This record gives sequence, structure tokens and C-alpha cells, in this order.
Amino acid sequence: MRMVTQSIEYQAFTNATELAPADRELLDRARKAVSTSHAPYSRYHVGAAVRLANGNIVTGSNQENMSFPAGLCAERVAVFAAVSNYPGVPVASIAITATADAFEVNRPVPPCGMCRQAIVEFEMKYGNKIRLILGGQTGEVFVVHGMETLLPLTFHEDGLAKK
Ligand code: THU
Repeated sequence: MRMVTQSIEYQAFTNATELAPADRELLDRARKAVSTSHAPYSRYHVGAAVRLANGNIVTGSNQENMSFPAGLCAERVAVFAAVSNYPGVPVASIAITATADAFEVNRPVPPCGMCRQAIVEFEMKYGNKIRLILGGQTGEVFVVHGMETLLPLTFHEDGLAKK
């Protein structure tokens, strides 16, 4: 038996104005995308903006449904839209943010577990890390270098893709 310790590293910026211009632009686009959220049930409005390796930006927001499990998170809406509209183009980065009707979102908004799994697929597919820019309405902004950082012991069954 051996004990294994894994730690993660990410950048914490005091606020969005400290970000590199491209990251700040992407977070701004995610903030704008919040307005397209359909979240009458949770009243929590998430916006995501994906930058592709060709420079194009595709945005998305959470889309809820009265049959709750039918809804989809903003990150998957944005990433699935990006990769299906630009086949073969790697995802370079994704910015995520949110607002809530009942409170101020004053801390970074990290992706849920299912979105981590869905997005890490495209790191594996294209062989590049996807940069994450996580912000709230106010407060610190975290920049994470690669989705796999947020998904230790990622499921890697390469054999599934083979005959
Ligand atoms: N949500 C996202 O859009 N992204 C996440 O990573 C976590 C949660 C949405 C789902 C639901 O519409 C609302 O936020 C509350 O959970």
C-alpha cells in the first residue's frame, strides 16, 4: 500500500481587471451570456463563453426545464455548441460566471462535476489543456490551467474507443 497525495494549482486574481486582456474579454462575454439563461426554477443564471483555437467565441447559458433533469448547464450548452459548429477546432479556454436573483455571487463559479467530465473529453480529443476562467459578479477570479486539474483520477478508458 502507498498513500498518494495530489494537489492542484491555480491562479487567484483579486478581481477581473487583473486578468490578461483575452481572459477578461472572455469573462465579459460570459457575463453577457447570463442574460440568455432560462432559470425560472433555481433563479441562478449561469453564463459561459468558449474561446476556440481559431479565436472564435461561442457563448451559452443554463437552460432549465420544468422536468428538472432535462435542463442543461451553461458550460455544456456553450462547449457543445462550439464543438458542433466548429468541428476539428480545439477548445482553448472557457469562462464561467453567474448571477442569482436572491444573492450576490461574490466568489468564482466552478463547473459542476458533470460539466468537468463532459469538457475533459475535449482535452483528450484534441490533446490540449482547456484554460478555465472562473468569476462571480464580484470578488476573486480563478484561472485554472486545464480541466483535468479539476478532475483528479479522470476516467481514462481508452479501450472504449477501440473495436
Ligand atoms: N449550473 C450551471 O449552469 N453550471 C454549473 O456548473 C452548475 C449549475 C446551473 C444548473 C441549474 O440551471 C442552476 O445552475 C442551478 O444549479
